[in-house]
Amino acid sequence: MSNISITIDGVECKAKEGEAILNIARANDIFIPALCYLSNCSPTLACRLCLVEVDGKRAYSCNAKAKEGMDVITKNDEIEKERRAIMEIYDVNHPLECGVCDQSGECELQNYTMEMEVDSQSHCIQDSPRFAKDWGRIHYDPSLCIVCERCVTVCKDMIGESALKTVKRNGAELGKDWKEKTPKDAYAMWNKLQKSIIGVASGADTLDCTMCGECTSVCPVGALVSTDFQYKANAWELKKIPAANPHSSDCSLIYYDVRHDNVSNSNDKIFRVSNDYSFSPIHAGARYGYDFENQVESKKEEAFNKVIDALENKVDTIEFKSYITNEEALILQKLKETKGYKLHNPDAFAFKKFLENFSKTSGQTLYSGDLKTVQESDFVVCVGTALKSDSPNSGYAMNNALSMNKGAGLYFHPIGDKVVEGYSKNLLSFAHKVGYEEDILYFLLDLFGKDLPAEIAYCQETFHHKETVVVTDKIEEIKEVVLMEDGEEKTVAKVISSKVEKVIEVEKNILADIIGLGDDFDVKLEKLLAKKEKFSLIVGPDLYFNPKSENIAKILGLIQKYTDFEVVVIPSKTNSLGVSLICDLDEEKGKFSLGYNKKADITISSLGKGDLDMPALNQQEGTFTSMNKRVVPTNAALPYNGYVLNDIANALGLEAEFTVDYTVQLPVDKGFKAIEFDDLPNEFTSAGIENRGYLIEGKSVTCNNEIKRASDVEEMQTPIYLANPVHQFNVFTNKSHQLNEAGALYASSDFLEKRDLVSGDMVKIESEEGGSLVVAVQLDNTISGDIPYLPTFDTKLNAKQFFPIGYRFASVNIKGVK
Ligand code: SF4
Ligand code: SF4
Ligand code: FES
Repeated sequence: MSNISITIDGVECKAKEGEAILNIARANDIFIPALCYLSNCSPTLACRLCLVEVDGKRAYSCNAKAKEGMDVITKNDEIEKERRAIMEIYDVNHPLECGVCDQSGECELQNYTMEMEVDSQSHCIQDSPRFAKDWGRIHYDPSLCIVCERCVTVCKDMIGESALKTVKRNGAELGKDWKEKTPKDAYAMWNKLQKSIIGVASGADTLDCTMCGECTSVCPVGALVSTDFQYKANAWELKKIPAANPHSSDCSLIYYDVRHDNVSNSNDKIFRVSNDYSFSPIHAGARYGYDFENQVESKKEEAFNKVIDALENKVDTIEFKSYITNEEALILQKLKETKGYKLHNPDAFAFKKFLENFSKTSGQTLYSGDLKTVQESDFVVCVGTALKSDSPNSGYAMNNALSMNKGAGLYFHPIGDKVVEGYSKNLLSFAHKVGYEEDILYFLLDLFGKDLPAEIAYCQETFHHKETVVVTDKIEEIKEVVLMEDGEEKTVAKVISSKVEKVIEVEKNILADIIGLGDDFDVKLEKLLAKKEKFSLIVGPDLYFNPKSENIAKILGLIQKYTDFEVVVIPSKTNSLGVSLICDLDEEKGKFSLGYNKKADITISSLGKGDLDMPALNQQEGTFTSMNKRVVPTNAALPYNGYVLNDIANALGLEAEFTVDYTVQLPVDKGFKAIEFDDLPNEFTSAGIENRGYLIEGKSVTCNNEIKRASDVEEMQTPIYLANPVHQFNVFTNKSHQLNEAGALYASSDFLEKRDLVSGDMVKIESEEGGSLVVAVQLDNTISGDIPYLPTFDTKLNAKQFFPIGYRFASVNIKGVK
């Protein structure tokens, strides 16, 4: 897209050719009313409020594409008359229940009614009954719905589920006289309003989706709301605390909406999480997993002294998980440097090793892409992650790229995922056998590599062989045919097409057979790749503990270096990237451990189950390093009255008044910047630019092209996988009241049917290494195939016993038990 300039209300605006005029206006702080349009989604033209004049002609600014020199006028008498009529009609039969409506105070219908000064009504029609629907965590009230279709659009173009659609309303018909006396666009909008409401796309009564809740977030009125939040608080009483999603490495911008609990309890309480839906969707864990705070009345001195005594006299190792801030990670690193503790965090250790091996061939300490580059791509490949549940935001970015950029892609994972498969018909999904990730990356390097150095090219050639195949070709011949015309026979020449089979010699890559891509893969891929220009590759946590992780990371490095792919590596926990950059981690632990949010010889815990309480992440200020390689701030939504890690560090000889005093000290040699916590921004600009914290700068390092040949894969007979269901991420999401549940062995309908099991039946899982667990099975109808998964969010299950080295696949025996 070339750079152009257009004029909006006399203001010269720089833009990209083809950009929507509405987006250009927003980026230049020029107001155009709009109710149905969502940035990064397709326009639905439902509201028609964004009407403007372009070079003297009426156009809808959400749909009109910018061209060099365009002259746009955002209002004149005719436009204002039309907009006012639209708003009047939106107010026809809209229930007058603003006093109790959950959206009141942040309702776009209220705002535009005021903006257009609608103080009288010239339209009316008989109302028809519209009954509210209870869709689990979501409540839909069609009588409040203005059929803007934002919910439908966000679910299709952003989330990738297409779970909602417009359905028949059977409202009263508009009489002819209304057509004559109503402005054109207002009439068209009204007609639609009478005919439609929102329903479940499958036609079922219940909404069977992953319940991300993004549709409630985009709804401009009170029609789609969180069932839990309904009638609990008014928008104007809630204080918005900007923060970062504490549960996964997207670290998306969220707001904790906080108010005093009730009239008899003045303590602050989080009532809900909201988000800036125009630029930053959030997943179910971020939206509903907010009340995991650790309530502590006061500082428990005795417990604190016990911990300090242990740290001074017994502890040689600190074990922790990557659900901590960068500042806490720096405190731990400083304690290692001053006190000699080992730092044990197997997950971050594996991630760090993976990035180190990646940089050995890529020559860069960090991967090149982020969620934005994925969103802007038109060809996206995903390997080594159960995308939908490991990183829903990566899934949203991939779906958005496929939907909005006429994109295509490839998804490789041993567990078939119906949600991901549904992103686009131009996405090929392969449920390959366990252990073939190395072959897949080799294959991608072979397919997309450019100017490969001789040693790699040689290695690649060993995968190639010539094969003869039979293909069907279409041929056209001119033949004479006899036709009847006016009762007479006539011989005419006609082009006749027919299909013939021919044998040709093609070059094949044996890896395609090994991975199981099918004979027609080349043909399909050629079609998918037509006119594609921007490539992204997403890889994830299956690779970090993979037995072949070292070579996999190196092949990935070569892919970043020698192909057009921008590579995105999903950190497995919220701050795995920050921890891996800040801490010198140890592979082995010592004899006596202090565990931070991890059970050990002595434990400090924000779950309230240890020897000393610690604040939860919704009670802390600090920063995370997101998968976008951005250091983003998070703020405390709730107070905490106990000791924090900084108190422990100070007792051991470090000196800092507050934990966030460490923000400015984060290691500059690892790409962090010496910026004070209070100086970090946390917002999106009106042009949609992520102005949050700062970007970590990766470094160039010396590299080589040393990779090994793909090694053989040992087949697993009955594998299980370590993963959480889509809305769970950890013990903290499971502590939250809307997500709290018991874990199970999650399986596809194929798996259950084959074994004559139904949800709730008990099974016994046993491994050769002695692992044993009796657990209920639960249907996950979003997956397919024969590999079930065990979660980590419910620690009672001890799923990790089957995955001792961290690799996410394990071979087990599963039997039904009574
Ligand atoms: S439910 Fe809300 S978002 Fe969906 S069409 Fe109705 S008003 Fe629009
Ligand atoms: S909750 Fe999410 S997946 Fe379900 S309908 Fe709403 S946007 Fe779609
Ligand atoms: S915003 Fe353009 S038609 Fe609604």
